[in-house]
Amino acid sequence: MSQRCVKVGLLGLGTVGGGVARMLLEEKQRLSSRLGAELVLERAVDLDPALARDQGIPPERFSTDAGAVLDDPEIDIVVELIGGLEPARSFMLKAINSGKQVATANKMLLAHHGVEIFAAARQHRVGVAFEAAVGGGIPLIRSLREGLAADCIVSCLGILNGTCNYILSRMTSEGAPFQEVLAEAQAKGYAEADPTMDVEGLDTAHKLAIVAALITGAQPDIADIYTEGISAIEPVDIQLAGEFGYRVKLLAILRNLGGKVEARVHPALVPADHVLASIEGPFNALHIHGDWVGDVLLYGQGAGRRPTTSAVMGDVMDLARGIVAGCPDRVPPLGDAGAEGGRLEIAPMDDTACQYYFRCLALDQPGVLATVSRVLADHRISIKSVIQKGRSSSGPVNIVMVTHEAREKAVRAALKEIDQLPVIAEPTRLIRRA
Ligand code: HSE
Repeated sequence: MSQRCVKVGLLGLGTVGGGVARMLLEEKQRLSSRLGAELVLERAVDLDPALARDQGIPPERFSTDAGAVLDDPEIDIVVELIGGLEPARSFMLKAINSGKQVATANKMLLAHHGVEIFAAARQHRVGVAFEAAVGGGIPLIRSLREGLAADCIVSCLGILNGTCNYILSRMTSEGAPFQEVLAEAQAKGYAEADPTMDVEGLDTAHKLAIVAALITGAQPDIADIYTEGISAIEPVDIQLAGEFGYRVKLLAILRNLGGKVEARVHPALVPADHVLASIEGPFNALHIHGDWVGDVLLYGQGAGRRPTTSAVMGDVMDLARGIVAGCPDRVPPLGDAGAEGGRLEIAPMDDTACQYYFRCLALDQPGVLATVSRVLADHRISIKSVIQKGRSSSGPVNIVMVTHEAREKAVRAALKEIDQLPVIAEPTRLIRRA
């Protein structure tokens, strides 16, 4: 009897697509042996033929037309690595509607169109795998979907953007300003030429939307996820937070409140002895708390060609194993066969309760601290600790406070009043505690 052959069609030969092509060609024997079936790169597609030549893809297996993959009934698995919303969305839906299995690293597409894509996958009983969409090479999706399939995930705290973690790590170790570290990161190729998606927290929000969908079986509207990046963080805030015993990290925060979730992305104070405080440089980590498992930490490289290729190829192997076993949709995309795949309700940001760090720039005059404290007290915000930095008869000084737990709505109202006081020189800086 001839051995079963599983045929892969690859859309996109960029950094990760090129890695996937190379692994399929160079490691074919190992992959096929583990699969118990021949795993073949049947066709690769890109607009640039030079990319195919770079990866040693035979010309007869290359096309500039996505139809060469999507319309070929022989192709079992489509790997979508072109990124962006369109035409990636149309290509993926076409592949699913044709009964092909799909692997993708496209977090933006899943965060925006997950409901539609997962519904199509359910209808056509195909597998959709997206390990590389969150946390690069860390097997994070599979851990949540399969390893922790029996747990209720109570909370997740994630460092999910390597660019931001690299920048904050350098700002912490060197006291350098954001713009300087960003420019250096761009020069070294660690940050994109247009860093907006990364530094303004949007990339992290896309990843958090996917994690939220995985732990609830329902998809949030990305617009409901409060998102604040790191571009306004100043070295002085990192240093002062350090004096209170905290590190500043860009966190994806998710708490499962049952029925709805708290989901937000913002710079956060992490206690120096928390495991996430020690995640440095471009690394990613996800700290999970499950009701039975307790605490789990997943850590590794969140970007880069080899780690991300590893994640995509793990998906290809998983889908191929499903095909060989005759059940490629064995595990539902969001791991929950009972969920309807509808919209997930996100708790309003105004309802968030946490501790806060404030840095007020105030004139150094008698009664200023009392005035600021009075406004906070009026809004039922209780101060845990306070320090004043420096002494000046003319210019403003930093008054830094960490509060007990307070509500976002009250904090916003109080800061609005504080910033209107004649003794306050600049808008008060705020960082939430994790
Ligand atoms: N741009 C992302 C990061 C990697 O800096 O972590 C891809 O998700």
